[in-house]
Amino acid sequence: MDTPLSDVLVFFGATGDLAYKQIFPALQAMARHGHLDIPVIGVARSTWSDDQLRERARQSVTEHGGPDEAAFARLASLLRYQSVDYADPASFQRLRQTLDGAQNPIFYLAIPPEAFADVAAHLASSGCSENARVIVEKPFGRDLASARTLNQTLRRYFPEENIFRIDHYLGKEAVQNLLYFRFANSFLEPIWNNNYIHSMQLTMAETFGVEGRGAFYEEAGAIRDVIQNHLLQLVALLTMEAPGRGDLDGVRDAKAEAFKAMRSIQPEDVVRGQYNGYRDEPGVASDSTVETFAALRLFMLNQRWAGVPILIRAGKRLPQTVVEVWIQLKRPPENVFSESSPGLPNYLRFRVSPNVQLALGARVKTPGEAMVGSGVELMFQEHPGDEMAPYERLLNDAIHGVKTLFAREDAVEEAWRVVDPVLGNTVPVLPYESHTWGPPEAGALAVEVGGWRNPVMMQADGPVITPQNPPPTSTT
Ligand code: BG6
Repeated sequence: MDTPLSDVLVFFGATGDLAYKQIFPALQAMARHGHLDIPVIGVARSTWSDDQLRERARQSVTEHGGPDEAAFARLASLLRYQSVDYADPASFQRLRQTLDGAQNPIFYLAIPPEAFADVAAHLASSGCSENARVIVEKPFGRDLASARTLNQTLRRYFPEENIFRIDHYLGKEAVQNLLYFRFANSFLEPIWNNNYIHSMQLTMAETFGVEGRGAFYEEAGAIRDVIQNHLLQLVALLTMEAPGRGDLDGVRDAKAEAFKAMRSIQPEDVVRGQYNGYRDEPGVASDSTVETFAALRLFMLNQRWAGVPILIRAGKRLPQTVVEVWIQLKRPPENVFSESSPGLPNYLRFRVSPNVQLALGARVKTPGEAMVGSGVELMFQEHPGDEMAPYERLLNDAIHGVKTLFAREDAVEEAWRVVDPVLGNTVPVLPYESHTWGPPEAGALAVEVGGWRNPVMMQADGPVITPQNPPPTSTT
């Protein structure tokens, strides 16, 4: 803990979608775990009463996990509402009075980024921003230039150490585990480089489509929505150098270096896809060229990773909802047993969602006279229990001033620099059928690494399906 605890939480956008889906459930969970004892002021333009906000909070938690009466009562007792006109300085003066002398307020801007500049300026001119922290949500801009402008705007009113940019992936237990697993084990480091690692693949697949978020998605597309942020953050965690001992903020320094080492992606390394039927979604243009799927190939320009292809793909309406990282090792230098079909090489598999899996793919001898073998997978699996959901963890950290799990200005801008050359229509968008692995053309990107590794799911009542059974290689 390097700064004082916030003494009031003010969240803008209290009547909106993000508050409904994420913030109220996170606040109730914080109350349940004894982590919420500061006033919480919901702010929006509508003229609501405190009770209306509490009613909205109750609906929200009922729909997202269910109310916990004791925790909800605690939250309701802390919750107040204030109507604020984002363009009116007098409104912010009233907000200042409501803060009631708080010394270290924290403002959560759960509002569209277009409104950030006005709100930040009025928070500053009204004196609300003194010693204050601010939490902002992705999207942090829509390309490198707009991200810089947004950062400059925020920096005009808040120092970087008081800006908390939420990428909720960084608050996931499984993502924390990835960091832990890499640096708490000594067997990985010697092989964690281009001498031993052949390639990496990251897949973020969702079976559902844009689900009523057509208008938002039209402004985003898969690269802006999840690759520039969530997936590149995973790549940074996988490829970064070790942070110093006990230096948790060193994680952000190490990640920033990893982002800097990423080569900007070239159009020939990208395939964009759009599922058939996307153009019929509400809010979507009938001639939309926005991608609902993207596959790309990334390289790092540093000593450790030079020449290791990092394949990334993300999409909606794919065959499964799963996030998985596949690290493929090189084969032994000599085929000692002269096996005609040596099977899958060794690999490590990290499942990030929907459950946590850590797996090691190895080869073992098949019983019998011949020196031939087959692949086995050693797997550790954890089902999510009552661990903190990402928003709870992140809100709690922000209130305590702990910045490790938040995206930093330089890393965000570097991540935009990486995807900037392939945003928009630089690469044509290709159609794909729902519940396939994107346009068949995506296969070409993975030919040199032996094809995409499609994550395989556990069967509820049958044998465990592993990548060895059946091998999940596909060219699409
Ligand atoms: C969000 C994207 O940031 O992440 C969504 O806007 C996506 O399109 C979501 O579905 C996935 O998050 P999670 O936590 O469900 O994997």
